[in-house]
Amino acid sequence: MASRRTIILGLGGAVALVGAGATWRVMRVPQTAMRPWQVAEPVADVRLDALRHAILAPNPHNRQPWLLTLTEGNGVDVRCDPDRRLPATDPHDRQILIGFGAFCELARVAASTRGHRLDIIAFPDGLPGDRLDDRVIARLQFVADPAIARDPLAAVITARRTTRQPFADRPVPTALLQRCAAIAVPGVTIAHSNDPVRLAAIRETTLKAFTIEAETPRTWQESVDLLRIGADAIDAHPDGLFLQGPMVEALALAGVLDADSLADRHSTVFRQGLDEQLAIIGSLPAAIWLTTPGNDRPDQFAAGQAWLRLNLLATALGLKLHPNSQALQEYPEMTACFARLHEQLGARGDERVQMFGRIGYGPATGPAPRWPLESHFRP
Ligand SMILES: Cc1cc2nc3c(=O)[nH]c(=O)nc-3n(C[C@H](O)[C@H](O)[C@H](O)COP(=O)(O)O)c2cc1C
Repeated sequence: MASRRTIILGLGGAVALVGAGATWRVMRVPQTAMRPWQVAEPVADVRLDALRHAILAPNPHNRQPWLLTLTEGNGVDVRCDPDRRLPATDPHDRQILIGFGAFCELARVAASTRGHRLDIIAFPDGLPGDRLDDRVIARLQFVADPAIARDPLAAVITARRTTRQPFADRPVPTALLQRCAAIAVPGVTIAHSNDPVRLAAIRETTLKAFTIEAETPRTWQESVDLLRIGADAIDAHPDGLFLQGPMVEALALAGVLDADSLADRHSTVFRQGLDEQLAIIGSLPAAIWLTTPGNDRPDQFAAGQAWLRLNLLATALGLKLHPNSQALQEYPEMTACFARLHEQLGARGDERVQMFGRIGYGPATGPAPRWPLESHFRP
């Protein structure tokens, strides 16, 4: 997330100081946090195989709120860990639930490679209210089915990323956007734009929304509290948002980069970090978004299923995808941006934009950390 360029700017003295005496420390990389991405070894149990892929699903702030219980007859019950929600930026657990849709759909894609159909029964014990509760969100049933073909999206599960980088100044062909939009998940509409005039207006809203989130103390603090700075912190807590690389290690070692400095809106690292994020969000060669007819729990779950398929298909097509969710968040300071983005994206009446993303050509990036599958099981 923090680029070499930004950190060198104005902070070169600190880097030189560290470089002289502690090269071994600044070269450290996480040792265990990325291991869940290594899925080459076969696993006999189809459920465990599907779940070890499902934990690689995109999910807000990488909270990985999955609580999993293996049940009789080849089933899995999926619940939400209440401590892994995002109350400041996601007060109704809408985004967290989108992550569960992505998780279950990824389990389905993975199960297809083993000749299994995945029946997903969402909310078997009733719909949650304003917050998710301890009821089952999805009951998964793995069924051997000779009619099930391998889902081609399975080939890119471990290559999928959320790409937080500026995109190349290269047009995204309309034909590719149309292929992405053709993903059929019932109840979810996918729209897109590569029209520079329309994108300029949208960009203004997404930049404003990010600035509001960063400058609202409680919403910014939610991200700062989840920041893992450097390899040791990432290995210790392989979730949340992470900063890694030699410059990050060096600045952390020098005491220049830490949670306090990032939380302080007057600090140099905060201002530089904000500028960098705005440059990334402003890099908008094309946009793609998901809309549902309303905003009930099944709408949100279906949006997550569609986002997962979209993220995988974009990967297969050589495109990078980066959700920008700030203007879709439901807290008072965001109300004006929320309304403006919905209008700009053509949502009418009760329609709700569930996900908005930048899409384009960009650099290859490494995977985000994950807790091991075993950590998610509950009796
Ligand atoms: C509902 C939802 C909202 C998200 N919003 C954002 C966002 O606003 N900005 C961002 O950088 N990533 C966003 N993400 C991406 C997650 O942060 C990302 O999936 C997670 O950190 C894991 O990284 P990975 O997708 O590379 O595996 C969102 C993901 C989901 C499912």
